[in-house]
Amino acid sequence: MNISVTHAASVKFSESGACLMVPLYQGELPLNATLLDPAHELVLQAQADRGVLTGKAGQCAYLPVTEAPYSGVLILGAGERAKLTPEGLRRAAGAAAKALTENRITSLVLDVSHFPELPVDALLEGIILGQYDFDAYRSKRDGAPPRLAEFTVALAEGAEVNAPQKACELAALACFSANGARHLANTPPNEMTPAALAEFAEGIARDSGCECTVLEERQMETLGMNALLAVGRGSAQDSKLIVLRHHVSNDLKTIAIVGKGVTFDTGGISIKPAADMHEMKYDMCGAAAVLCAMMTIVELRPAINVICVVPSVENMPSGMAARPGDILRAYNGKTIEVRNTDAEGRLILADAMAYTADKYKPDVMVDLATLTGACVVALGHNAAGLFSNNETLSQELAAAGEATGERVWSMPLWDEHGEMLKSPHADLSNVGPRWGGAISAASFLSNFIGDTPAWAHLDIAGTAWGASHQPHLSADHASGFGVRLLVKWILDQAGQG
Ligand code: BES
Ligand code: MN
Ligand code: ZN
Repeated sequence: MNISVTHAASVKFSESGACLMVPLYQGELPLNATLLDPAHELVLQAQADRGVLTGKAGQCAYLPVTEAPYSGVLILGAGERAKLTPEGLRRAAGAAAKALTENRITSLVLDVSHFPELPVDALLEGIILGQYDFDAYRSKRDGAPPRLAEFTVALAEGAEVNAPQKACELAALACFSANGARHLANTPPNEMTPAALAEFAEGIARDSGCECTVLEERQMETLGMNALLAVGRGSAQDSKLIVLRHHVSNDLKTIAIVGKGVTFDTGGISIKPAADMHEMKYDMCGAAAVLCAMMTIVELRPAINVICVVPSVENMPSGMAARPGDILRAYNGKTIEVRNTDAEGRLILADAMAYTADKYKPDVMVDLATLTGACVVALGHNAAGLFSNNETLSQELAAAGEATGERVWSMPLWDEHGEMLKSPHADLSNVGPRWGGAISAASFLSNFIGDTPAWAHLDIAGTAWGASHQPHLSADHASGFGVRLLVKWILDQAGQG
């Protein structure tokens, strides 16, 4: 996407016909724009007089015009001025994105010369995320509508252009990565296998020159990753442990991001009910998030070391599958009694996290996983569960979540929660009692962080798909949750936010 932040007087409208976008706060007519032709303003004012145009958040009005430097005007309802937030604007722009797509607008000039307070990067995010569509598997696509290719921001004379230019470029990069994560997750599980995820990671390494290692089952056997291997053994698909590495210098801090990559979760022998099982193709959304965040990281090359680790398996029932009652010895030597084969995410993360801690000795580790239905019960689709042993890290992630609209909510992790996982036969049981299921799952993971001083677990089961309160993220597809949050947090850590 071509992005240019400039002053209103220097705007060049594209010859093929750009659309002029003008924001409107609720109850703040007349329209305020340097580039808007007074004749068009009159037409729009008449619409306002009739009560059609109000500036309500997310409301859009499109007026095609002739004989003007632009081919149409799009009014973006920004809601009440006093209530403006970046996330509010993202949502409003998400609604506008649909109008851009429907009207086949490829070039947009956003006139904010009278709105210096408007976070234009959030607006652009809403557009890029809102224009995402998953249509790769439709045979009747009759020419998918073109997407926005040119985004120009018109500021008041004398306004600073460099900071918003940089912010918009970063926003676009992170949002295209988030759309990449949505695409990985939406791709059906017959195609999005552990091998396909590994190939995707190898592609990132090829394009960026960063390092990619994929551990095969034989190598994992040698390393003693028996928990991960047990989960994948029921499937005809080979399990993989994928590692992407952005290494700058040994003198810098190392961050590890780990993502659950169950490409399909039937539950295994403790099989799930049929009704919503198809949704379990999204059980690799943690993996998609960390891989696609990494895509942005290796492009921006911040001054911090980042290790991205994805344990990837398919959880299937078969004659080879793990059974309830099996006892597995994980990479770090701890034994786990499998009480429910559907609690598989924590088993693969156990080996992946213990291995990451041991081999890469990160200063900070953050894992993302669609781990428990209990987390969806607790927080719905509005926030991911945040579990951590470190208050500073919790606050950093909460701040990044608030800034990106990818909210996280802190949950407790007390010693009592560890007691929930006692097994009469092994060091740990892989499930606890039903109540507090998201917390006992997090507590289980805390056994596998080795000496990592700061760790946080994000249970994204509720936010990875299914949210209907964010128009820029369609509810019946994956949301890409975590990509923008991780990018923001990592860049902040590198002092490059
Ligand atoms: N992938 C599921 C969690 C999940 C369920 C995410 C529904 C999103 C929506 C996970 O592997 C799982 O099956 N967890 C079990 C754990 C239980 C057996 C302790 C669950 O939440 O029911
Ligand atoms: Mn499961
Ligand atoms: Zn699962």
